[in-house]
Amino acid sequence: MTVPLSRYGRVFDLLPEMIFVIHGAKIVDHNPAASDGTGYPSDQLNGMSAENLAAESFREELSGLIASQTQERKCEMVFIKADGTPYDADITIRTLTSKEGTFRILVVNDITELKKKELDLLRFSNVIHHTINPIQITDATGVMVYVNPAFERTSGYKSAELIGRNPNILSSGKHSKEFWRKVWTEILAGRMWVGEVENRRKDGSLFQAELVISPIIDPQGAVVGFMGAHRDITHQKELERQLVRSQKMESIGTLAAGIAHEVGNPLTSISSLVQVILRTTQDEFAKEKLELIKNQINRITRIIRDLVDFSRPSSYVVKPTEINEVLRDALNIVQYGKKVKHIRFDVHLNPAIPRLHIVPDQLVQVFINILMNAVDALDGIPGTIRLTTEHTPQFVRVVVADTGRGIDPGEVEKIFEPFYSTKEVGKGTGLGLWVSYGIVKNFGGDITVESSPGKGSTFIVTLPYKGE
Ligand SMILES: Nc1ncnc2c1ncn2[C@@H]1O[C@H](COP(=O)(O)OP(=O)(O)O)[C@@H](O)[C@H]1O
Ligand SMILES: [Mg+2]
Repeated sequence: MTVPLSRYGRVFDLLPEMIFVIHGAKIVDHNPAASDGTGYPSDQLNGMSAENLAAESFREELSGLIASQTQERKCEMVFIKADGTPYDADITIRTLTSKEGTFRILVVNDITELKKKELDLLRFSNVIHHTINPIQITDATGVMVYVNPAFERTSGYKSAELIGRNPNILSSGKHSKEFWRKVWTEILAGRMWVGEVENRRKDGSLFQAELVISPIIDPQGAVVGFMGAHRDITHQKELERQLVRSQKMESIGTLAAGIAHEVGNPLTSISSLVQVILRTTQDEFAKEKLELIKNQINRITRIIRDLVDFSRPSSYVVKPTEINEVLRDALNIVQYGKKVKHIRFDVHLNPAIPRLHIVPDQLVQVFINILMNAVDALDGIPGTIRLTTEHTPQFVRVVVADTGRGIDPGEVEKIFEPFYSTKEVGKGTGLGLWVSYGIVKNFGGDITVESSPGKGSTFIVTLPYKGE
């Protein structure tokens, strides 16, 4: 058999693909790439049955393709090398007709490496796609090109709303330009940046995240993009805040109990002595001064009572309680006062609220205080106090919303601190919310506040429901 194609020179010897020339079912010629790639010496390839290039299970298919009359076929098969190593082969079969006869040309590319890379890539993209950590990928200019489903869930934005945009649409505005400039300096230099950031969700709420930004660097060393991996630490931050608060409460509680005891006892004797002298003396001047003393003692007593209330919760009895009843009791007490004439009470108590295991007296005290605060916030302003109860399978929520003067953003954190009061001396002790918070925390609940100055405040008391 003369060597086909010889009149063109051995052009195909220069090609990187493995090329086999087949006549009948036998290999009659091939290029050097073919013997390099398969590991068969050249003289062994010539005369070999072409189907033997394929792995056992593909042989029939391969000989079928070679025997068929179709002009061109492309497919993938598993081929096998001389030493038995399998490899992924991307093959093309063509027919060549020359005056020497009709030949089939088999062109083979070893795509094992390519497939492995593809698979690696698929694995990586799957990991990123399905991890619970919100991840975003940007190009080198910082424009988002990918966000994973966790990122969509956390941010509230759909992927389509984010792709093509700058990540700063998520910024809460808490961090300065200077802060972000430093971040950019780091990552543009190809270094990783780790830090805590505050982001804003689509619905306006904030979430705290630990963010790791790593530059994506191509084989030439150029930064081609950035990957930002977030870890949502909103919950952790909240817990930290609560821990600090409750530790503070605890130490103050111990102190308060001591003071209440130490001051309370002498105060009781002073008080009864004053009563005795008041009853027995005829001296008008002394009587007048003693009345003043009595007022001052009352003031101290009020503070002491609040302190004692806080420090003896264990002496109360927990029992299944209708929270709506508790609220009605508190309302009755508050509405009785003359400061409430100009206030409309808008009461929506959901009758389906399950009973809670609480101490009713303590909870009455909590709601009296919250309602009284609302009344005070409406001092002289006609307005509304809306009282609502609602429940989920896990929680009962009591919402007290007033249209009063509101609380300055900077003050919101302080209102739960003991002795923080904006009221005139004698009107407020600043212990009400502190005590209330302690009581509610004791039952595993929480008090939160939303307020805008001049518009009003909403106090939300959440109590866990653990079943009847
Ligand atoms: N509904 C409200 N609207 C406006 N400010 C409030 C409201 N509730 C509480 N505050 C603020 O929180 C402070 C602390 O409340 P509290 O602990 O009950 O103490 P007090 O009522 O004795 O001042 C109040 O002095 C007031 O400044
Ligand atoms: Mg109060």
